[in-house]
Amino acid sequence: AEACNIGIFGGGTVGGGIVEIIESKREKFEQMTGKSLHVKKICVRDLNKPRDFTVPEGCTVTTDYDDILNDDSLDIIVEVMGGTTKAKDVVSAALQKGRNVVTANKALIAAFMPEIEKLLTDINASRDENVEFRYEAAVCGGIPIIRSLQSDFVGDEISMISGIINGCTNFMLTAMDAEGKSYDEALDEASKLGYAEEDPTLDVGGFDARSKLKILMRLAYGIDVDEEEISCRGITELSKLDFQYAKMMGGSIKLIGVAKALSPGKVAAFVSPAYVTSGDSLYAVSGATNAVEVISKNLQATTLIGQGAGRYPTANSCINDIVALAKGDKTPLPFNPPAKDVQFVNNYESNF
Ligand code: NDP
Ligand code: HSE
Repeated sequence: AEACNIGIFGGGTVGGGIVEIIESKREKFEQMTGKSLHVKKICVRDLNKPRDFTVPEGCTVTTDYDDILNDDSLDIIVEVMGGTTKAKDVVSAALQKGRNVVTANKALIAAFMPEIEKLLTDINASRDENVEFRYEAAVCGGIPIIRSLQSDFVGDEISMISGIINGCTNFMLTAMDAEGKSYDEALDEASKLGYAEEDPTLDVGGFDARSKLKILMRLAYGIDVDEEEISCRGITELSKLDFQYAKMMGGSIKLIGVAKALSPGKVAAFVSPAYVTSGDSLYAVSGATNAVEVISKNLQATTLIGQGAGRYPTANSCINDIVALAKGDKTPLPFNPPAKDVQFVNNYESNF
């Protein structure tokens, strides 16, 4: 079969999972796509670091970005190294070279969404075949929420999108509540399990959830919000005592993200810890599980629950994007069309 060659920036938690799945499912993917998928190059920071996955035969591990960017035999570039500086450079360069890109990097997308969108528009204006940009893994790890918002709500009107959208902190809150672990013990364990960002402040400060909420808001409401305008409180102030009080009242504490249409054309949003009663659907969402509820006119309430972080759930979403690209599936508007008549209101109280 024709080869579909893949270059990956990042050989860590997610990158290793992608390599493993491609290696173990090559025959199936060949049947599905008509192409033989091969990871040809992986770019990392440190060549001497031991890898917890097998580097495929014939695959080069490099620290030189150009080894991937200048390799014209590569069909798909996957960015799973994180950060917003080098990641932006390699994603932009790959798109400019006409490569299809898959990324799991919500920080990058949230910071540079208009630039990425413009770049894609400019590049694709002069091409017969569109360059594709896919990012299913960027929001809620293994949950197919991006695809769902790109395809399943097109005739609907979303009034609220909310839920638990950070796996690391939900894992920590569960460990602190159910197992009585301290904040530091819980964070340490989450990092060891590959749930935390390289800079865990992004998780515990609520900023990772805020980046995801920003992306969800564009897909759900067509608005591009400056993420710093979204009110954001993380879990850093929470202690065992808070859980004891919550338990005393029969509930628990969850870090939630909410974006809600307050009135037609006005959307408010926040990230904050919130008290949930034992009857609330979020109460039983434990560990690195995420849950996103979409309230909409046609479908009413739709909830997606699943693993929001970790190697295989996240790699699974990247693989879905890779296989879709190998099949030739198209997503002409990766961020959905922008809305003209919707406004973000960051002063929530004054709108009541
Ligand atoms: P890791 O820290 O486990 O892996 C990052 C990899 O990228 C490492 O191999 C590292 O190299 C490499 N890397 C980092 N910076 C550079 C650089 N400047 N130049 C070259 N290589 C670099 O991260 P994850 O796999 O956990 O996360 C990757 C991305 O996926 C992030 O954007 C994250 O937000 C996103 N994501 C992660 C999820 C998860 O559960 N882990 C879930 C959803 C999204 P080296 O190994 O040599 O240090
Ligand atoms: N650190 C992120 C989380 C990874 O815990 O949700 C998945 O996006």
